[in-house]
Amino acid sequence: MNRDRAALEALDREDPLRGFRQRFALPEGVLYLDGNSLGALPRAAMARLERTVEEEWGEGLITSWLAADWMEAPRRVGDKIAALIGAGPGEVIVADSTSVNVFKAVTAALSLRPERSVILSETGNFPTDLYMMQGIAAFSGGRVRAEAVAGDAVLGRLGEDVAVLLLTQVHYKTGAVHDMAEVTRAAHAAGALVVWDLSHSAGAIPVDLNGAGADFAVGCGYKFLNGGPGAPAYLFAAQRHHGAAVPVLSGWLGHAEPFAFEDGYRPAEGIARFLCGTPPVLGMAALECGVDLMAEADMGALRDKSLRLGRIFMELMETHCGEFGFTLVSPREDARRGSQVSFAHPQGYGIMQALKERGVIGDFRAPDVLRFGLTPLYLRYGDMLDAVLQIRAVCETRAWDDPRWKVRAAVT
Ligand SMILES: Cc1ncc(COP(=O)(O)O)c(C=O)c1O
Repeated sequence: MNRDRAALEALDREDPLRGFRQRFALPEGVLYLDGNSLGALPRAAMARLERTVEEEWGEGLITSWLAADWMEAPRRVGDKIAALIGAGPGEVIVADSTSVNVFKAVTAALSLRPERSVILSETGNFPTDLYMMQGIAAFSGGRVRAEAVAGDAVLGRLGEDVAVLLLTQVHYKTGAVHDMAEVTRAAHAAGALVVWDLSHSAGAIPVDLNGAGADFAVGCGYKFLNGGPGAPAYLFAAQRHHGAAVPVLSGWLGHAEPFAFEDGYRPAEGIARFLCGTPPVLGMAALECGVDLMAEADMGALRDKSLRLGRIFMELMETHCGEFGFTLVSPREDARRGSQVSFAHPQGYGIMQALKERGVIGDFRAPDVLRFGLTPLYLRYGDMLDAVLQIRAVCETRAWDDPRWKVRAAVT
């Protein structure tokens, strides 16, 4: 395939998603390959936040809980996210962080399998998922055990003691994709429930929770959904579990009648029982803009472009950086790759810092992985060539070999 600049620019001219880029406020001279970590700023969010702060908060004050529909935002935005992940209305709620939602979903699933004791996951899963499992086990006083096995051993480990399987659909480091339908089927056949972490899936690949028969899911608002730093997360619970799944984080807003101020907790009907405390209104307003924008895009076109960006990036790396010792850690096969391409390199940390100084922003994940997020809404095919040529320049000049980067920063 011809991957010279003219060929890539021709692809950009024909790109059905090309109009989306101008809907984001992207800094000049920056190639942003980190939308899988923190999505870019939708222009609509700037105006929306101004209005929410000045009018709704400043003038409406507390009346805005009703007048500006703040109270309904967790359900309203949840329904919009539901449409992106194959869930139905009333099955997704926006609340809390992904970590807290992992806790809520796993404990709810445990409440549906009281005779079983194991929470199962894969080694190398995103740490917060593993840590939450470990915290739940520690708190359970011996009732529950947390166990992680290698990815290819997960299905074989399913057995009569496994209550919940917790997996991230698209791996945060490698971008490898689990087959949600197949894994869910196997878990159900073994009598277990599944909690899917969709942090790197929603807005990145087509997701069909109900098509796969999923039980619970959680995910981040600030990555591919472009909801802003620290955006609230979301939780999916399949309708069939709403009645019996008992929330352990039994906060007042998940009560059947919060404003009855009863002493005893009675869970709300439906997804609202997974609310806990007061929703973060400003974060929710920004998130809604990101979700609305994503909802305008055709998921088929998005996936096509994401995969093609990935193929082009990998090919260009082979052509221009083949001699510099990068090892591809993402699956080459389209069906198994999410919306990122990652390479391992012994000097990965220094290379990424040198790239950032040159305006190419990706990130580094210990011990040696350079992650490049490919976000089809605002990246261009030509950007792939520019990024790879900068990587080449960093390697040729050994710009990574700088004393400033011998000590790692708090955020990598
Ligand atoms: C798979 C996965 N789960 C969870 C999180 C983070 O959760 P939280 O929003 O609670 O920090 C991340 C963050 O990168 C992630 O990649």
